[in-house]
Amino acid sequence: MKIKKAIFPVAGLGTRFLPATKAMPKEMLPVVDKPIIQYAVEEALASGIEQLIFVTGGGKTALENHFDRSYELEDTLRKRGKDDLLQTIESLVPKSGTIVYTRQSEPLGLGHAIWCARDIVGDEPFAVLLADDLIQNDVPVLHQMINEFDRLRASMVAIFEVPKEETSKYGILEAEPAHNGTVRIKSMIEKPDPAEAPSNLAAIGRYIFTPKIFDYLGMHKKGAGGEIQLTDAMVALLEDQPIFGYRFKGTRFDCGDKAGFQMANLAFALEHPEIRDTLKEYINTQVHKN
Ligand code: G1P
Repeated sequence: MKIKKAIFPVAGLGTRFLPATKAMPKEMLPVVDKPIIQYAVEEALASGIEQLIFVTGGGKTALENHFDRSYELEDTLRKRGKDDLLQTIESLVPKSGTIVYTRQSEPLGLGHAIWCARDIVGDEPFAVLLADDLIQNDVPVLHQMINEFDRLRASMVAIFEVPKEETSKYGILEAEPAHNGTVRIKSMIEKPDPAEAPSNLAAIGRYIFTPKIFDYLGMHKKGAGGEIQLTDAMVALLEDQPIFGYRFKGTRFDCGDKAGFQMANLAFALEHPEIRDTLKEYINTQVHKN
């Protein structure tokens, strides 16, 4: 069965970026000239996703407006002859009916946010993208994973190796090597202290799930940090069905973190034809200064 639907949990408060995120959703923070969420949406569409399911919360109207037409702006750009910009603005709006919004009315955790989309997803496999994890690569990571799903027909999460002292920031895997560079997950633990971590293989925010995961998310079991964790539902799913870890190709930036966000900006800016030369010059002067 084809993966047609993707869930974007975007209800988070973005406290790590206050005061910037006081009146603006954190997903709207720009990496160069595009909001973080747009990278994830473009990745999903380029991977064949046909329906984008946003799980939002209060204060996220800017996000909805971003993916909608803006007649006033379009009209002004047209009158000023700014055709390139006009085309950019028009092309970022997905076809009507492609985006579905639902709300997570209480901040009960990532697992709960995904569960909120259960009736929209229905009985088919689906993807989850956490926009904070921004990945730079020519072939979108979700596309890589969907190709792998076509072979494995099983749930899957993108993984990478982290320094041991950083395990408490991620869902950490206990796994054994499987085919084609994937690993078969035996267990998982959410944000363990380095001393308790079973490995340094961490999950990042790209997942494909069979709909069975909703049975376990629906149990609303609280885990790490008192939240309903996706990782715990994955551990429960393992009793029933296999889950694989997929080592993606690409560079991942943690845009949920101030330093990671700046690194993403730098990396994407250095690839941006309009600004890269100016930026390189500036970086050189700074390197010599320090
Ligand atoms: C979430 C997941 C965690 C995963 C991480 C990837 O944590 O709960 O398992 O490793 O995303 O970015 P968060 O970063 O939302 O706290």
